[in-house]
Parts: sequence; structure tokens; C-alpha cells
Amino acid sequence: MTRTPTTPFEGQKPGTSGLRKKTRVFMQPNYLENFVQATFDAVGGVSGKTLVLGGDGRYFGREAAAIIARMAAANGAARLIVGQGGWLSTPAASNLIRQRKADGGIILSASHNPGGPDEDFGVKYNMANGGPAPEAVTAAIHARSQEIDGYLILEGGAPDLETQGTADLGGMAIEVVDPVAAYADLMETLFDFDAIRGLFASGFRMRMDSMNAITGPYAVELLERRLGAPAGTVVHATPLPDFGGMHPDPNPTWAHELMAEMMGPAAPDFGAASDGDGDRNMILGRGVYVSPSDSLAVLAANAHLCPGYAGGLKGVARSMPTSAAVDRVAEARGIECHETPTGWKFFGNLMDAGRVSLCGEESFGTGSDHVREKDGLWAVLMWLNILAVRGQSVAEIMADHWEEYGRNYYSRHDYECLPNDIADLMLSILRGELSGLPGRAEAGLVVAAADEFAYTDPIDGSVSQGQGFRILFEGGSRVVLRLSGTGTEGATLRVYYERYAPGPEGLDRDPQEALSDLIRATEAIVGIEGFTGREDPDVIT
Ligand code: G6P
Ligand code: ZN
Repeated sequence: MTRTPTTPFEGQKPGTSGLRKKTRVFMQPNYLENFVQATFDAVGGVSGKTLVLGGDGRYFGREAAAIIARMAAANGAARLIVGQGGWLSTPAASNLIRQRKADGGIILSASHNPGGPDEDFGVKYNMANGGPAPEAVTAAIHARSQEIDGYLILEGGAPDLETQGTADLGGMAIEVVDPVAAYADLMETLFDFDAIRGLFASGFRMRMDSMNAITGPYAVELLERRLGAPAGTVVHATPLPDFGGMHPDPNPTWAHELMAEMMGPAAPDFGAASDGDGDRNMILGRGVYVSPSDSLAVLAANAHLCPGYAGGLKGVARSMPTSAAVDRVAEARGIECHETPTGWKFFGNLMDAGRVSLCGEESFGTGSDHVREKDGLWAVLMWLNILAVRGQSVAEIMADHWEEYGRNYYSRHDYECLPNDIADLMLSILRGELSGLPGRAEAGLVVAAADEFAYTDPIDGSVSQGQGFRILFEGGSRVVLRLSGTGTEGATLRVYYERYAPGPEGLDRDPQEALSDLIRATEAIVGIEGFTGREDPDVIT
């Protein structure tokens, strides 16, 4: 073991999903090493501890995993559990940390951002509960990274991460595990695999687009091997270092191949996609796109059909910009419903306290308390379980759901790469106007209330201010505006439109058309086109 002298790098400040930078930034000598040592130091050292390590297969992942293994050994870790080949999806890593009672884990991923030498890489630390490090820990990592003057690394070459089994690495047990098995076994405890097998045996067809990212091996094992879906059900099933040039973000824009198939004449019954590290999902039926907010509501309404949730849900939670469709289900079931700021981390306290079992966000994230990350394939399997038990198509399930609860028409419009000063100016003017908005009429809609969302965590009392602007209209429509916290270039403005239709009439309109009054009223109040010069959003979901 040697202590290698080093000097701090600027900007090693992890966001909510760890430190994300261009891959070449991470490949600079000492950059990764500094950040990993700062992480080890910030969590009180790793001596005698058990850690989990894996990533989404993107470029530089294997090299990074080998470096981190040598550093964990030199820092005195007792055991390192690594996914074979350095692979673990984010939910599978969260599961392994919990199941093996590890002290924490390191996930190598930049989620849905493209991968490759000129794209993105990331490193994230998760805690013993399997969830992302809270802000106090990420702040301590950053602080440590700014004063670091050396790191510990075992001399010698890269350890073997390809052969399953336990070996010695400088006094540390390095255990290379099948990245899929434990996760797939967990899924078998939650869902009715016999019912889903019966569904596929009856000729039901699906397309799963793994977008050349980490869920490929998981989806092949679960869908094709354990559930009997025909070979070839999973496409883009091999994780590639650059995701084969795909942008592995499961939304209608980036998963366009799947969209085209599902909206085309030869569409299978069911379609799904997931992102780079496997925590996001998109759900489609034949000719039907299920918005993430609606998907959450349908899962909540039908959870009792799945063995893992047969006893009912403790409660549900959604991020503020996510539509209130799930609130109606919670109300009907008499269970708690929480509205949190954007970001999965806000669900952790509620789940740990046993207050909620199902959570979701409009940003294609859904999950439950089986792990402490959102979980793409879990959502796909839950849909399959529901489809199998109900014996209906996706379109029929959606129609029934809207008939029972009414429909929250919903759409998100994104304006990307805006100059930061323009976006800030527009929103600061809006902030100044909020209190004067109630009573104002535009495009036939009257503003009922307007505010900037703040959240008090009911478990630890912490307060998060400035979490997005809300304009509520009489009759229950609303628009939310916020700036993305995950963009890398300029500012991304997200505008979330929602309008409630109680039914029974008017439940099958096109969302853009159903929301057109609201879009016009928002333009009149906020002036997005005037400020940005953009006539249309870049992405619509
Ligand atoms: C990440 C987080 C999600 C969050 C999303 C919001 O994916 O894991 O929990 O919803 O970012 O991104 P945004 O760009 O809207 O801030
Ligand atoms: Zn992700």
C-alpha cells in the first residue's frame, strides 16, 4: 500500500445523484482517486466495513471499478461485493447494500446521460439503507475533496472482476457476484410470476427497450428466462460503453424507436424502456403512451393485485410537479399522500419511517420501499402483474381508471439550453408578480392562487425552500414552472401543465389539445416566448 500525494480539484461537489462530469474529467490522473478518498474519509473511513460496488457499464466503468477496489483494500475495507464485470443497475446496487447489510456502496453511472469518452460519467455514494447519501454527507465529501493531500491505493494491477467468487485483495475479501441474481430473486417475492408466465404463454407480446444500457441482462433474465417471453422480446439488450450512441433516457423523444413500434400497425400488447442505470421507466400500450403520473396512479390503484403489496399500501408520495392523479387513489383508499420537492431523496425519510410504500415522479421514476432508489424494471413487472390479473389491455385499464377517478390531463414542456440570465430574469419577475396573480383572467381561466413551493419534511422537520412556482386556476387546473437541477448546459425550463376532467364526458382527448387554454393562459402570464424567443418547447412528455 502506498499513500499517493495529491492536490484538490475544484468542483468535486456531488449533486443529488452523485458527482457527474465529462468522462475525460474523471480520467485525469488522481481525479477519481481524490473523490473516492474524500468519500471514504467523509463517511468516517471504510476500515473493517463492507461495501458494494457496480455501475451501468458505461465507458471507463471497468477501469474505475478496478481503481476503487484497490483503494477500498488499501483503506482497510473488510469486504467488497462487486457485480461481475463491474455491472450493477442502480436498484440492484441498492438491493445488495440492504440484503447484504453492507455499510454503503458506490455506483458508477451518469444515469440517463449519454456515455463514452466524450460524454458523461458519474460516481455516487449510497448509505447503509441503500439510498443516496443525504446532503450532509455530500457536503462533507465536497469539503474533504477541497483539502485532500493524499490517497491510499494498493499497488499492482487491476483485480479480476470477471470471475465470480471470493478472492483476497491486499487483505480485503473481494467477492464478485452475479449482478442479476439477487435482484431477480427479490422481484420473484413481489410479483405473481405464475400469472405473468401464463400471460406470455397465452400469446401476449411485449417489447422491452433496454437502450444498450444496464437493464439488458436483467430484462433478459427476468422476462425471457424466468417469465417465458419469446427470445428477442428485449432489444438493445447488451450494455455498451457508449450505449451504441443511444441517449438512454426513456421518454417519447429519446426512446423513439420503441415509440414508433408501439404506435405502428404491428405494435405488441405492451412496451417499456428504461434508462442508463435502470432506475427510470416508460410504459406504453398498443397505440397508448402512459404518462408517468398516470402510471403511478394505476400502480397505486392496483397494487393489491401483486403479492408483495397484497396487504395494501402504507401510503403514497409524489413530487410536487407530478400530477395529482395518485392523490385521488390515495383519497379513495384512505391512505396518506405526500407531496415532496423534485428528487428521489425526499422519499427516503418517508419510506424509512414506514409512512409510504409507493412513490413516483413525472420524470419517469417509480418505485417502492423494496429498495431506496427508483426502479425501472420493478415498474415494468408490476404493470405485467396487473395486466395478467386483470386480463385487460393497457388502453382498457387506462379507460377504466379515468372513468373511476377522472383524468388529470398532463404534459411537461421543456425549453433546453436557455441562457441562465434570461431564465433567472423571467422567474424573478414571476416571483415578484405571484401575490398579484389571484383573480387575473387569461384564456378563459381565472387564477385562484400562486406561490413558490416549500416543503417541511414531516420526519426530520428540515425545510426546503424555492422548489418551483405554482399557479393554480379556478376549477383545479394548474401550471408549475421550475428550472431543471440536472442539466449540464445553460438552464432548462420545465413547464408542467395539468387539468382535471372529472368525466364521464371528455376523458379521451389529446392532452395537448385538452391543455391548450392553460398553455395560452401561462404564456399570457409568464411570457415564455417573449423572454426566450422560443416558439415551441424542445421536448414534450
Ligand atoms: C433525477 C432524480 C429524480 C428527479 C430528476 C429531476 O433523475 O433522480 O429524482 O426527479 O432528476 O430532474 P430535473 O432535471 O427536473 O431537476
Ligand atoms: Zn437513472
